[in-house]
Amino acid sequence: MQQEIILTGITTTGTPHIGNYVGAIRPAIAGSRNPAARTFYFLADYHALVKCHDPRVLRQSTLEVAAAWLALGLDTEASIFYRQTDIPEIPELTWILTCMTAKGLMNRAHAYKAATQENEAARSQDPDKGIGMGLYCYPILMAADILMFKANRVPVGRDQVQHLEMARDIAGRFNHLYGEHFVLPEAQVDDKTAVLQGLDGRKMSKSYNNTIPLFAPENRLRKLIMKITTTSQGPDEPKDAAACTLFQIYQAFATPSETEALRARYASGIAWSEMKQMLFEYLNEHLADARKRYGELIQDPAHIENVLREGARKARTFSVPFLKQIREAIGVQSIG
Ligand code: TRP
Repeated sequence: MQQEIILTGITTTGTPHIGNYVGAIRPAIAGSRNPAARTFYFLADYHALVKCHDPRVLRQSTLEVAAAWLALGLDTEASIFYRQTDIPEIPELTWILTCMTAKGLMNRAHAYKAATQENEAARSQDPDKGIGMGLYCYPILMAADILMFKANRVPVGRDQVQHLEMARDIAGRFNHLYGEHFVLPEAQVDDKTAVLQGLDGRKMSKSYNNTIPLFAPENRLRKLIMKITTTSQGPDEPKDAAACTLFQIYQAFATPSETEALRARYASGIAWSEMKQMLFEYLNEHLADARKRYGELIQDPAHIENVLREGARKARTFSVPFLKQIREAIGVQSIG
């Protein structure tokens, strides 16, 4: 039976938060245990370079994201876990694909359009002010990530669906010119996985600065939970569980029966102070083991480096021969 290939990239910016865990890391780790699939998970540090030009920050983010995935239980035997910048075939494929990509296609990318619209709204003379080629070509690099490993399925957030359509477009164009070399990937957007609200009730996101870092030390975790916005209802008033950030975070970690028990307490009235204390204790206990492993891993970057290099070695057993095939297809080969 042909194994399905599942691949996704993790941009290495910032410290992972509980929204990342529930929305992406946890389902990815569960997916890596599925024997019917081969999984490729990688640190998209070339994508991070688009926005981050501070070498220390870039390195630290890579370390933290890798440590988080390992601490949370990613099995690097079951899945191929690597760093994008360890695969030189990816930038090479990126250039090849760049030459097959219509400029107009990139003009339509949401992220690029949003940036030019911002400039227009600010009445700038130049709609491209401050926009680098990295942002502009971002979707082509992402297409190379995906097409290199013949991924069938790419789990992503809704904001990345257009990039998957572009990858299919680019692959189709190449295949039309040179024959069926690339597999057309499908985006997988999971509506069932929770999108967590952050401290202020908006979607938990680094750009809103409202996150709960996964491995915040205990007293910081308590402080953050105490800061979560609630209604001004009194302790005995019945409360709406569905709209409540505290409830939603609890539900993302709890079993169904624990969730139902808490729902009943909301209906009969639970004081916010009690609920916050309970959520803190629950999360603290659930994250304690992973937090400890994370702390140990962060202290041992050489170990993480070895894990990533071993992942890259495995990934390159696919990328090296495949790029050779692509080079031959386009006519870049030995002429003698
Ligand atoms: N752009 C993706 C994001 O911001 C990260 C990413 C880079 C990616 N390359 C990828 C995701 C390839 C899936 C497949 O989330």
